[in-house]
Amino acid sequence: MLIALFVSQFAMGTFASYLPALVVKATLTVAFTIAGGLGFLMLKRKRARQERIDNSYTLPTDKAGWETVFPNLSMLENAAFEGLGAGDRLLLVGVTGGTGQQVVRGVMEAKTGAQIVVLTRNPDRPSAQQLRKAGCELVKGDLDDEASLKSACVGITAMYCHGTSVDAAAADPVEVYRAERLARAARDAGVQYIVYQSAGGADRDTGLPHMEQKYMVEELFRKSRVPCTMLRATLFMEELWKKYTRPAILKGTFQFAMPPTNKQQFVSCRDMGFAAATVLKRSKEFEGKSIELCADELQWQEVAEAFSANQQASGLPLVSYKEAGFVTECIFWLISDDLYFRLSPTSPCYISAQQLSKPARVLSSSTMSAEGETQLESVDSAECETCEDSPAVEKPSANGKIIV
Ligand SMILES: NC(=O)c1ccc[n+]([C@@H]2O[C@H](COP(=O)([O-])OP(=O)(O)OC[C@H]3O[C@@H](n4cnc5c(N)ncnc54)[C@H](OP(=O)(O)O)[C@@H]3O)[C@@H](O)[C@H]2O)c1
Repeated sequence: MLIALFVSQFAMGTFASYLPALVVKATLTVAFTIAGGLGFLMLKRKRARQERIDNSYTLPTDKAGWETVFPNLSMLENAAFEGLGAGDRLLLVGVTGGTGQQVVRGVMEAKTGAQIVVLTRNPDRPSAQQLRKAGCELVKGDLDDEASLKSACVGITAMYCHGTSVDAAAADPVEVYRAERLARAARDAGVQYIVYQSAGGADRDTGLPHMEQKYMVEELFRKSRVPCTMLRATLFMEELWKKYTRPAILKGTFQFAMPPTNKQQFVSCRDMGFAAATVLKRSKEFEGKSIELCADELQWQEVAEAFSANQQASGLPLVSYKEAGFVTECIFWLISDDLYFRLSPTSPCYISAQQLSKPARVLSSSTMSAEGETQLESVDSAECETCEDSPAVEKPSANGKIIV
């Protein structure tokens, strides 16, 4: 008994004397693991950033430079475009991904009468097959392979380009190289009109790679001399109903890295498609213009209220808004050094969504495709860029808007 007591006392004493050391060891191990992980992620982020800078596209600054991008620029003359209609073929690029299906739906709702042709690298992918079943033709083509684009553009009257890269946290410079190939292929194949889905704020020197790149793509389409219209989208409504927000919303929390009373302007992908088709039908009114599109403007807490009202009707939990905290912001920062961090309200280079989409005006909170024929109100053409007066690299000031 005495021996047992002695042994247990000894064991406890030993353990007690080791306990602080164990705690210190465990703490240090966890701290070193976290620091190592963070260091690795930061290094990865730094390398990705450098890689992006090294691979970034530079727009030509003079006529000779543009002639190398678009050989025989001044000699080629595409047929005059009178507006999309029956008998025409409309090529849609970048519409088989996360936001594309709704775009195609919007295009179809505009009833242009034109045959819709969808470009894809893989006609067998389920989203492409769904579009085929809906009446679209599929054409195989790869934005990294100019020859495939040239053959895809043969017989095409007009093109709507929804995007030239995958939707990623960090802007990928390939987006611009691909746009160059696509613009050249379209030009050479005699495509008569291009509508490009650009980004709201693309012309406002934000320094955000996502937007700067979209501006470069715009420039390439403009300089190809194919008549064109830029539709600059504000935030897609569908963006808020993706994997990164949906599960939490269904449980009653909508979290975003914005103060609850900040306003954001939105457009839906379906409206994007409808607007693109409308511009193509009435091309004379919109040729050479860059137009910011917005269908609704809401505070972030109002977005949560809208989700709430919708869920209440289906017997799901009410939704409250939660502004993302410091840790979430750090995670965003580690994932992407451009858009998310700069949009964050605590960042020194904070650019509010309001600033980005300013001064797009909102007249109606209803989505336009629900209205039947859209009331697209064109603005004073003097405010808008045209293919002729748009300088090579100089950015125009805030320009034309379409009121949805
Ligand atoms: N305003 C906003 O709030 C907002 C939100 C999200 C996205 N966007 C923009 O919308 C665009 C599309 O986004 P998303 O989310 O739909 O993208 P996504 O789901 O990643 O889909 C990418 C699309 O691009 C096509 N694509 C990619 N690489 C290609 C290649 N080498 N050749 C041919 N096609 C290629 C894909 O076609 P296949 O795989 O079938 O070949 C697919 O249709 C992007 O420019 C993005 O920046 C804007």
